[in-house]
Amino acid sequence: MSDHKIESILTEDRLFPPSDDFRQHANIKSRADYDKLRTEAEQDHEGFWAKLAHTEISWSKDFTKTLDESKAPHYSWFTDGELNVSYNCIDRHLEKNGDKIAIIFEGEKGDTRNITFKELHKEVCLFANALKAKGIKKGDRIVIYMPMTPEAVIAMQGCARIGAIHSVVFGGFSAESLKDRIEDATCKAVITADGGTRGGKVIKLKAACDEALAKGCASIETVFVFKRAGNNVAMKDGRDAWVHDLTAGLSEECEPEWVNAEHPLFLLYTSGSTGKPKGIQHSSAGYLINCIMTMKWVFDIKEDDIFWCTADVGWITGHSYVAYGPLANGTTTVIYEGAPTVPDAGRFWDLVERHKISIFYTAPTAIRALMRLGEDFPNRHDLSSLRLLGTVGEPINPEAWIWYNKVIGKEKCPIVDTWWQTETGAHIISPVPGAIDTKPGSCTLPLPGIAVDVVDEAGESITEPDRGGYLVISKPWPSMLRTIWGDEQRYVDTYWGKFNNRLYVAGDSCRRDKDGYFWIMGRIDDVLNVSGHRLGTMEVESALVAHERVVESAVVGRPDDIKGEAIFAFVVIKGERPTGADADALVADLRKWVTKEIGAIAKPDDIRFTDNLPKTRSGKIMRRLLRSIARGEEITQDISTLENEEIVKQLQGKF
Ligand code: PRX
Repeated sequence: MSDHKIESILTEDRLFPPSDDFRQHANIKSRADYDKLRTEAEQDHEGFWAKLAHTEISWSKDFTKTLDESKAPHYSWFTDGELNVSYNCIDRHLEKNGDKIAIIFEGEKGDTRNITFKELHKEVCLFANALKAKGIKKGDRIVIYMPMTPEAVIAMQGCARIGAIHSVVFGGFSAESLKDRIEDATCKAVITADGGTRGGKVIKLKAACDEALAKGCASIETVFVFKRAGNNVAMKDGRDAWVHDLTAGLSEECEPEWVNAEHPLFLLYTSGSTGKPKGIQHSSAGYLINCIMTMKWVFDIKEDDIFWCTADVGWITGHSYVAYGPLANGTTTVIYEGAPTVPDAGRFWDLVERHKISIFYTAPTAIRALMRLGEDFPNRHDLSSLRLLGTVGEPINPEAWIWYNKVIGKEKCPIVDTWWQTETGAHIISPVPGAIDTKPGSCTLPLPGIAVDVVDEAGESITEPDRGGYLVISKPWPSMLRTIWGDEQRYVDTYWGKFNNRLYVAGDSCRRDKDGYFWIMGRIDDVLNVSGHRLGTMEVESALVAHERVVESAVVGRPDDIKGEAIFAFVVIKGERPTGADADALVADLRKWVTKEIGAIAKPDDIRFTDNLPKTRSGKIMRRLLRSIARGEEITQDISTLENEEIVKQLQGKF
């Protein structure tokens, strides 16, 4: 544990209780009620989840077996049950709430569209029938590469409806990344759009798709293209089809495919500590129950709430809290396609005012960026509809938390700082807002039915306050990942290997304070968190070394006021180390190169050329030294083992 990012420990220790008004109307109204739920779950873990799954999910065949641990650390939940996730998100609301708005959409240019549950049902059925017409069947993997429009959700729900397994790739990822993900899961089709709009620019998704398919992707038979941006696209005969052409004349009804509880609902690729992203595989019923319950517990969801989670569907947050969780609860959810600063930095608050949003969920990066632009923007808008705020993706610094609380929440909205991961499917540690007093920077306490612990190197629970350790989950939970697609061994090694398959290792370090509150301290592996998005240092390194002039590179993170972490790359190139204009040109070229290889989120913020990387005698790169250098810190490490101590000055940019 020597390599932890201890400096990210946050020190704010004030307690912020919810207002009496919030508490009185909350789904869970007191600490005692929360404690009761947790105790109930501790006493009968399986029984607790079985009861919730029986009552909150609509099953086509109810389950009799709750948890199968016989193949641990592969766990299955509700194993003989059958359901359809899309049915649970849409059909079951139709009778009572068919005319209720399911999705409020707003485009960057201000175009808006309301979609009722009835209309969503029709759209999803039509699209599901189009999938079927093209021969897509239960179990087929389908890549979704879409702008942030209702059609992205319709595509996901359409797949779920027929039992196809979707794999959403964030629209900001490059053609190269798309290709890798298509090939890893041998996807049969792509669902995309002509283009999306962000920051006034058209993002040419179909063109990126064509580029990916031109490089390989032999398994792809069909490309479904939604019309959105209206840009010109090439359509390949026999392969590409406009969705509006395909759906014309198809039935507006599509009987859901009832699938086993464990049927994979989706794959979602995320970064790990190797160069290759892993396809996290989620189940149907287990995933759904945690999405449903966290909407109720954490977001305190009510019939008349207007819920807005700003995440893109390309990330797990957009899966659980845009595409599935809100709809499964019959909630009205907002989707915005565009940048938060168009036409100005008040856009989010303008949306809140006009759509009367009551629950707002975003990332600390966005809060910090908007905070920097001043209070005037939020103050120009009526934010009185808000009653609850949330954050996710990275630790929030107390300054941003306090600003969020004061300027956006007007000190009347509790803030839920939700800790979770792509792998956990839904919130794991988070305040239950009517019950738990919050502390800025702490995600507070685990949710009921989730057994979280902080352990030492031997896997023993750390009870001493404020001592850091490994964040682990000690009992299986329904929405846990099931495996890594096509790599069982990597699943076992990555998450379970460290403590003999006994504890799920999240990859974060953490401490608990004297009140038992959890404080996330940072990653323990070579994973960066840039603007709340995960990126493996090795992924960026692999992209850099694929450039013809690069011999070797080492990538580390350094703190950044807005993004949380910024990417710093040390690069060795063939021949002479470049200087002056040559160096500037190569830096620009490498940044462009990485954007092309992975996507703009992976573009290094700093690139420094060096003759050599600092290595120990055994050839291991001294990453801690590089991290200190990237942060401009004094060097305290022992560098006597370096072959060439002079290199340190060069790494520091001193000559
Ligand atoms: O390091 C933690 C950080 O984000 C990681 C998970 O990233 P990803 O799978 O991309 O999912 C992000 C959205 C759920 C975690 O291992 N993280 C996430 N939420 C928080 C956080 N760090 C601190 N506080 C949080 N609330």
